[in-house]
Parts: sequence; structure tokens; C-alpha cells
Amino acid sequence: MIEFIKLEKSFGSRKVLKGLSFKVGEGEILFILGTSGTGKSVLLKNLVGLLIPDAGEIWIDGQETSRLTELEYLEIRKKCGMVFQQPALFDSLTVFENVAFGLRKHYRLSEDQIKEKVGKALSLVNLKGIENKLPTQISYGMQKRVSLARTVALEPKILLFDEPTTGLDPVTTNAVNHLILNLSRTLKTTSIVVSHDMQCALEIADRIVVLDQGQIVDQGTPAELRKSKAPLVIDFLSESLAIEAQNAK
Ligand SMILES: Nc1ncnc2c1ncn2[C@@H]1O[C@H](COP(=O)(O)OP(=O)(O)O)[C@@H](O)[C@H]1O
Ligand SMILES: [Mg+2]
Repeated sequence: MIEFIKLEKSFGSRKVLKGLSFKVGEGEILFILGTSGTGKSVLLKNLVGLLIPDAGEIWIDGQETSRLTELEYLEIRKKCGMVFQQPALFDSLTVFENVAFGLRKHYRLSEDQIKEKVGKALSLVNLKGIENKLPTQISYGMQKRVSLARTVALEPKILLFDEPTTGLDPVTTNAVNHLILNLSRTLKTTSIVVSHDMQCALEIADRIVVLDQGQIVDQGTPAELRKSKAPLVIDFLSESLAIEAQNAK
């Protein structure tokens, strides 16, 4: 569904992505793990066309994106639903209108169709009965779920999450992670989750790619990564074991 081939991106003299190549299969949940400042967000931005790669290719659903016209790229972008770290809801709009916003903007739909799609999206994230509330009247965890509903309402084939659980408490983190898993499986999307949480990657991912300084240090299934010899992966693993032990207490 998605393939990166020798992707390179620099800012000035600073090389951020140094020739990355990997694939994401259709229907797969792929986690990209790495310490902060390693180029994870830059990678996602290249994928959705917010940044243009210096070299290399990005294939999405059978099309190489650098050769596309602006219009063709817009069509591709519609297939990609991006969930940012911050919920970034419109404070002056109700939950309903926040979720309906993209639908109104991109499609010509009747009010009944919008109602149906918003209702469906909100029930997918287990939110019901808060349609008329304002974002400031609901918890941060709920706001995150509204922002997820807003993205899935557009029925993307590809779901991209940039650090969806950073800054959340453990209970909400767990809820958001399972929501990602359920949504991806229910909607049969191809999903990329950028994270630095090895624990949840091991639990949820089909495959994991570990990045360091713009390069892949290891990749594989959770079972394969548990046996990794790469020092950074071992670091991540021992951290996640420590958390597991703490949670077991
Ligand atoms: N638009 C930009 N202009 C200049 N430098 C950038 C830009 N975006 C990201 N960078 C730099 O690229 C590096 C990787 O950033 P980023 O992908 O955001 O890291 P992370 O892995 O934490 O998501 C950082 O050093 C950051 O300062
Ligand atoms: Mg980032």
C-alpha cells in the first residue's frame, strides 16, 4: 500500500532522512519508533505532501507521488487521514460540527447524510450523547477521541498517527491505543503510528520500524524485535520491560 524508496530529506546542511526504504502492507498496522528529533514527523509530512523529499520515491496505492500533478496529489491526500498529537479542535464549534467540518468542506452531502456519518464516526470512538457539547466541556481524552472521529468520518484508506498518546496518562494511553487497533481492524485501513512507546508497539503493531538519526536500525514483527541485537532497540525493550514490571505491581 505504501512504499518508501531511498527517501532523503535535508534542512539546509542538516540531513534528517538518510535514504530510508521500507514498505507498509495493505491492512497492516506499522509502528515507527525512535527517540525525539529523529525524523519521524518529517517522514509522515513527506508522505502526505506537507514536505517534498530531496531524493527517493514514495509510492501510495500504486502511484509514485513525486510525479503527480497537484490535482492528482489532492486525490491521494484524501486517502490519508492524519491524526496529530494535539486534538486541535475548533473551540467555538460543537463536537458534532467539529466532526462534520471536513465532510462539509470536501463533499456535497445532505444534512441527513452528514448526521449519519458523524453519528457513525462518534460511535466508532465510543462517544455518544456529547454531540452538542463544546470541546472545552469535555475531558482531554474525549477531545482526542473527537479528533479521531473527525479523521475517520472522511473514510480514509490510510490512517496516520503522529504520537497519538504522548502526554496522556496511562489509562487514556491504553484506551487510545486500543481504539487505534479497533479502528484499523474495523475500517480495514492501512495504519502508520509514530510513537516512542515500545510497550504499545509490541502490543498492537503488525510490524515495527525503529529509526535513529534518519536511518532504520531494525525492523520486523514484535516477536522478531524482541530478539533484536540493535542497541537502541534493546534500550527501548528494557524500558518497556521496566514499565511492564511497574504496572504488574
Ligand atoms: N520545517 C523544518 N525546518 C527545519 N528543520 C526541521 C523542520 N522540520 C523538522 N526539522 C528538524 O528535523 C529533525 C527531525 O524532526 P522531527 O521529524 O520533527 O523529529 P521527531 O522524530 O521527533 O518527530 C529535527 O532536528 C528538527 O529540528
Ligand atoms: Mg514528531
